[in-house]
Amino acid sequence: MANKSALTIEDIGVDFSGFKAVDGVSMVVEEGELRVLLGANGAGKTTLMDLVSGKTKSTQGRVFVDDTEITNREEHEIARAGIGRKFQIPSVFRDLTVRSNLEVASCVTPGVFENLRFGFASTAKDRVDEALELAGLTAQADRRAGELSHGQTQWLELAMLIVQNRKIILLDEPTAGMTQAETFKTSQIINDLKGRHTLIVVEHDMAFVREIAEKITVLHLGKVLAEGRIHDIERNEEVRRAYLGSKRIA
Ligand SMILES: Nc1ncnc2c1ncn2[C@@H]1O[C@H](COP(=O)(O)OP(=O)(O)OP(=O)(O)O)[C@@H](O)[C@H]1O
Ligand SMILES: [Mg+2]
Repeated sequence: MANKSALTIEDIGVDFSGFKAVDGVSMVVEEGELRVLLGANGAGKTTLMDLVSGKTKSTQGRVFVDDTEITNREEHEIARAGIGRKFQIPSVFRDLTVRSNLEVASCVTPGVFENLRFGFASTAKDRVDEALELAGLTAQADRRAGELSHGQTQWLELAMLIVQNRKIILLDEPTAGMTQAETFKTSQIINDLKGRHTLIVVEHDMAFVREIAEKITVLHLGKVLAEGRIHDIERNEEVRRAYLGSKRIA
């Protein structure tokens, strides 16, 4: 089966008044792939996600979702093209139940109108149930979102992207602030999402990366330093010098 690219980044870059935080990055992520982005502090990982999601406008290069160019389009247009992003600060409605949060999220998804002809109510409910299941929140469905733990809140946010059927999901340090148990559960959730969604995950926790990683791209000073399987990345001398030897890695 030929693999189809979901996200194509061509020579993307941004120049912040003379400082190139991302400097000519090219990367092709296939449909259903889980790509991990590694790199030391300041390597340009978050900025790359900002460029893809439209939060930051690029000064060079191009970005495509499938064959549609989204370079420097507005954030809502890029969202409509299928890119979803989880932010560090949760955007859940604390007074609504977990299920209601997902119902609200599913109503703002661009694809929802296409589902109308198949019977909105049942489709939407099925999708909410599926997202609850995938995010491991079925037992929490009727709880107020404000009562959730830190980890559960992060999973709810992820579930909101799932229910919106975002084709490409960007996760910037999804396990930040989580306990070990929560981190492990997050790796299970992400593994379950492989193949259904295309995922790009920025993560520093190497134990977590080993749980989820397929292909890894290492950024260094705004450029791609290496790309490959975890085994090759961990043995790569340049990567060790630039990143794995740095103190961020336990
Ligand atoms: N708006 C901006 N203006 C100027 N410099 C910026 C801007 N945004 C980011 N930078 C700089 O670009 C570099 C890359 O930052 P970025 O946040 O992308 O790194 P990162 O790889 O996500 O690091 P971390 O692991 O610490 O999250 C840093 O030196 C940062 O200070
Ligand atoms: Mg960052």
